[in-house]
Amino acid sequence: MNEINIEAIRQDTPGCEKLLHFNNAGAALQPLPVRQAVLDHLELENSVGGYRAEALANERLERFYTALSTLLNCRPDELAYVENATRAWDMAFYSIGFEAGDRILTARSEYASNFLAYLQVQKRHGVEIDVIPDDASGQLDVGAMEDLIHERTRLISITHVPTQGGLVNPAQAVGRVARKHGIPFLLDACQSVGQMPVDVQKIGCDMLAGTGRKFLRGPRATGFLYVRASLLDELDPPFIDLHAATWSAVDRYEWRPDARRFENWESNVAGKVGLAVAVEYALNLGLEAIEHRVVRLAEQLRQQLSALPGITVHDLGENRCGIVSLRSETETATDIQARLAARGINTSVSTAPWARLDMEQRGLEELLRASVHYYNTGDEIRRFCAALSSPD
Ligand SMILES: Cc1ncc(COP(=O)(O)O)c(C=O)c1O
Repeated sequence: MNEINIEAIRQDTPGCEKLLHFNNAGAALQPLPVRQAVLDHLELENSVGGYRAEALANERLERFYTALSTLLNCRPDELAYVENATRAWDMAFYSIGFEAGDRILTARSEYASNFLAYLQVQKRHGVEIDVIPDDASGQLDVGAMEDLIHERTRLISITHVPTQGGLVNPAQAVGRVARKHGIPFLLDACQSVGQMPVDVQKIGCDMLAGTGRKFLRGPRATGFLYVRASLLDELDPPFIDLHAATWSAVDRYEWRPDARRFENWESNVAGKVGLAVAVEYALNLGLEAIEHRVVRLAEQLRQQLSALPGITVHDLGENRCGIVSLRSETETATDIQARLAARGINTSVSTAPWARLDMEQRGLEELLRASVHYYNTGDEIRRFCAALSSPD
């Protein structure tokens, strides 16, 4: 496993000088090479025009597919560039031809936008939603999940790492069950890609959605979708355009042969160049090394927080990642966030409507979310805890 050179990494991350950034689950700080790649492309667009710039950047744009295929362990033609994780997930989800009586199997930690989509197809087509209970640790219970599988289960769809805490759901075990029963498996990996190895072959998912701006440290409004090649022709994308398909005769069209059929013709080209660089940056550091450091920092943070009077840590699961969720007996999460922001400390707040099944079950209205990345340090954790426990 590579050793991460923290000093060099922080030099590549000028924001570290001014900020204490514990909102990496919101949007991480971009490293300089990512910012430079975006700026260079914008500059090129200014000097030669957008279409010419795109043609000239062809090799850099193709690197998005090759680098991401290495990261996720899939083929480049199984990847689509989409503007964010939600739309990437939607393109996969709404491609499934749900019929009345079909069932969707999901988990308690599900992200709001995904659950809203289940409710929408329930209203439109009369599907049933089955929710997997948690095990004693708070992660989804794989045994209970298998018991819930029904002859009409059309999709297993879960969130790998939820928006509201450090839980890492056992995606690989879910994948084994999905394969055993031949049920398509859609994984929301928005909060996991970039902070831990995510290998679609090992996990056994058929579709996976992710975003650029969070733990991958890419530009905002960039995201991606993986779809297993063998599933492509079973899906009917909800939107079509002249990039996704060819109008081959007046009354006919042909889909592109690859997963780019889930893309738009028009997209954020500078963002794609930047995301390719962000993926390469993560690959150069090594995802095992990144995970090792992130997990260690987050555990340090949990330990120090647990020692503070009136603070409770709320992360669930057997394996926890870089997202740390907490509450104070004396201050609301919103107040803490504002107070820390005034001191140059970035955190975020998770509220019940973002993950209602989980938050309601635990009787939580809101949580403060402090999410670390590998460029954070032990000293920042100590400063964070000191600021948290000393109101102005
Ligand atoms: C678990 C999860 N899924 C999906 C998303 C949505 O990602 P995006 O904003 O890129 O659409 C988020 C964003 O916070 C998330 O936490």
